Amino acid sequence: GFARPSTAALKGRRVIVTSGPTHEPIDPVRYIGNRSSGKQGHAIAAAAREAGAEVTLVSGPVALADPWGVTTIHVETAREMQQAVEQALPADIFVGAAAVADWRVVEAAPEKIKKGAKNPPSLALVENPDILAAIGRRKRDRPALVAGFAAETDRLIEHAEAKRLSKGCDIIVANHVGAGANVFGGDRNEVTLISAAGRESWPNLTKTEVAARLVAAFAKKLSEARQ
Ligand code: CTP
Ligand code: CA
Repeated sequence: GFARPSTAALKGRRVIVTSGPTHEPIDPVRYIGNRSSGKQGHAIAAAAREAGAEVTLVSGPVALADPWGVTTIHVETAREMQQAVEQALPADIFVGAAAVADWRVVEAAPEKIKKGAKNPPSLALVENPDILAAIGRRKRDRPALVAGFAAETDRLIEHAEAKRLSKGCDIIVANHVGAGANVFGGDRNEVTLISAAGRESWPNLTKTEVAARLVAAFAKKLSEARQ
């Protein structure tokens, strides 16, 4: 193809991206899940491929096509997502863009739970593994660059920086998801990049533009890290 300047920024690099929600079954027809279209995560996977990387996308249930040239693994639950990510290691860059369900039902019912007769069911929940934190804190095969997202409704920077530190990430992409932000399902996003070096706020951009800029920022950080 055409030799565009950015096309080789990640040539020879391996990138793993998680995207979309996870669905945690309550019974065969119901689930617990976060709001997430997967648009931002899928756009990052596509942009990394565009930049020459070998990309594995681990996607929860989304209504999007698999990005061209990207190895896409489809999963339902957080535990399946974690397993797929670990099987895809080693990698140079990990990007946790998925909206992973924080809890799952201890034991999903094997048959559909019927409403009516008795009281509404109470769900016993247990916390899901934190996929990003597990990658960020790995001793063996930790990707050189680990990036996560922080979706916050309040005290965005403070919460996002706390997540960066607690999850052992190099970069957190913070986005405001409060009422009116219109991030979920939309085509635009306004983010602040947070790293040990400081922070950088970008204007409101399309998710495709955010993805291209993130990939450029990741490539730059990775090359700095290797010098
Ligand atoms: N994440 C993950 N596994 C989880 C929960 C979150 O990998 N079980 C990742 C997300 O993909 C994201 C980052 O952690 O990159 C932050 O997710 P977020 O939901 O904002 O943070 P939590 O740590 O779950 O905290 P809370 O939802 O309570 O704000
Ligand atoms: Ca969460």
